[in-house]
Amino acid sequence: MKNALAYADAHRSNFVDELKTLLRIPSVSTDPAFAGEVQRTADYLADHMKALGMQRAEAIDTGGHPIVLAEHFVDPALPTVLVYGHYDVQPPDPLDLWHSPPFEPVERDGLLYARGACDDKGQLFMHIKAFEAFMKTTGQPPVNLKFILEGEEECGSKHLAGFISDHADELRADIVVISDTALFAPGVPSITYGLRGLAYVEVSLTGPNRDLHSGTYGGAIDNPINALARLIAGLHDQDHRITIDGFYDDVIPLTSDERATMRALPFNDEEWAADVGVSHTRTEAGFSALEGSCARPTLDCNGIWGGYTGEGAKTVLPSKAHAKISMRLVPDQTPEDITNKIRAYFEANTPCTMKLDFKPMHGGHGVLVDTHSPAMEAAAEALVGTYGKRPFFTRIGGSIPVVADFKRILGLDSVLMGFGLDSDAIHSPNEHFGIDRFHEGIASIIRFMTLYGS
Ligand code: BES
Ligand code: MN
Ligand code: MN
Repeated sequence: MKNALAYADAHRSNFVDELKTLLRIPSVSTDPAFAGEVQRTADYLADHMKALGMQRAEAIDTGGHPIVLAEHFVDPALPTVLVYGHYDVQPPDPLDLWHSPPFEPVERDGLLYARGACDDKGQLFMHIKAFEAFMKTTGQPPVNLKFILEGEEECGSKHLAGFISDHADELRADIVVISDTALFAPGVPSITYGLRGLAYVEVSLTGPNRDLHSGTYGGAIDNPINALARLIAGLHDQDHRITIDGFYDDVIPLTSDERATMRALPFNDEEWAADVGVSHTRTEAGFSALEGSCARPTLDCNGIWGGYTGEGAKTVLPSKAHAKISMRLVPDQTPEDITNKIRAYFEANTPCTMKLDFKPMHGGHGVLVDTHSPAMEAAAEALVGTYGKRPFFTRIGGSIPVVADFKRILGLDSVLMGFGLDSDAIHSPNEHFGIDRFHEGIASIIRFMTLYGS
C-alpha cells in the first residue's frame, strides 16, 4: 500500500492533467446532439483502462449510450470489488453564468472547474488512478476489480437495470463501491448509508380549446394556470407536510440513534440558509433542516409554464398550464406507489372545468445500507488513514437509483464513499472539484482496496 500511495502522490499533477482530458469531452447524455461525444468518452475510458493494463475494458452498446465494462482478475481467494460510476454529465446551461467555459477545465484556488469535475467524472477517475497506482507498483490490485461505468445516469438510466440483469454473471462481486456523493463538510469525512429515491411526474391542465381574450372571457371561463396553482398549493399543508393520501404510509421513521447522530453533526442552519441566499429554512414540522434535507420525503415543483411569458404584457386567458413535479422518497416508499398516489390526488381534485393530462417520468428507489459490514469497516478505516478521524455515517438527499438495482438484481450492498462537497455546484454553473479532495479520494480508495483485500 505504501508504494501505491507514494506513486499516487508522485503523480498528482499527471493525474489532474489526465482528468482534464476526460473533462474536455462534453458527454451531455440528455441531449441527442451530444451522442457522439458520449460515445467518445466511453471509448476514451475503455482505452485508458486498457492502456493501464486492465485485462478487459470495453464500451458496450446498450441501444442508448454505452456502458463501459472492465475487469481485472487477480486471485479467486481475493474478494471482488465492483466500482460503479457515471461518465455522462448534466447540460452546462445556463452558459452565461460560467466564469470559464464548462468543457475547458481550469484550476482556480485549488479547485478544478468544469462540468463533470465532481459529478461524476472526477470521482470515477479516482478509482482508475488508484488501479494505476497498484499496477505501476505492486503490479496488481489487492482485490479482484470490476468496473461498470454508465453514460445515462443524468437522464434516467433507461438501459442500466436491463444491462445489469443481462450481465449478472460478469458483474458478480462481493461489494459495490461508488464515489458519487459528498463529504459531510470539508475535512469532515463521511460515508453515505442512506440515499433518497425519486418519483417524477409532469402534469398538464387544459381549459378552453384556445387562448382567449382575458377581458371577454375572464370571470366566466376557468383559467388553467390559476387551477394548477391551486392544485400545487394544496399539496402541502400549514405544517409543510405533504397532503397526498397515504403519502407517508411506507416511510421508515428515523430512529432515535439516527436523530442523535444527526444532531451531533457540525451543521449550522443559519449558515446553510445564508449560503444559498435565504434568511430561513423551511421544513416539515417536527424535523430539523438537516433531517428534512436528507431523511424525509419531499415534493417540489421543478418547473411551471403556460400562457404568455414573453416581454411585455399580453392579456390572455391561456388554454394550457403545465408543471414538472419531483418527489424525493425514503425507504420503503416506492416510485410506483407514490406516482399512483399523486395521480389520484390530481384526478380527485382537478376541477370539472379542466382536462387533466398526467405523465409519469422517471423514478428510483431510496436505500438504507447496513453500516456494520466488513466493507463498511474497511471504508471507515481507509478514511481514518486519510483524514486522521473516523467518518460520520450520513444520509444524503440526492438519489443514485442504481444502488437499489444492485441490491435487487445482484444482491449486492454498496459502499458510498464520495469526496464531493455540497458547495461543488454539481448540476449548476461553475461546477468544480477540490484538487485536494481528488487526491484524498485516490489515497482513500488505495487504502480501502488494501484493507478490504486483506
Ligand atoms: N451524484 C448525484 C447524486 C447526488 C446528489 C449525490 C447530491 C450527492 C449529492 C447523481 O448524479 C444525480 O444527480 N442523481 C440524480 C438522480 C436522478 C436523475 C434519478 C438526482 O439526485 O437528481
Ligand atoms: Mn452523480
Ligand atoms: Mn448528477
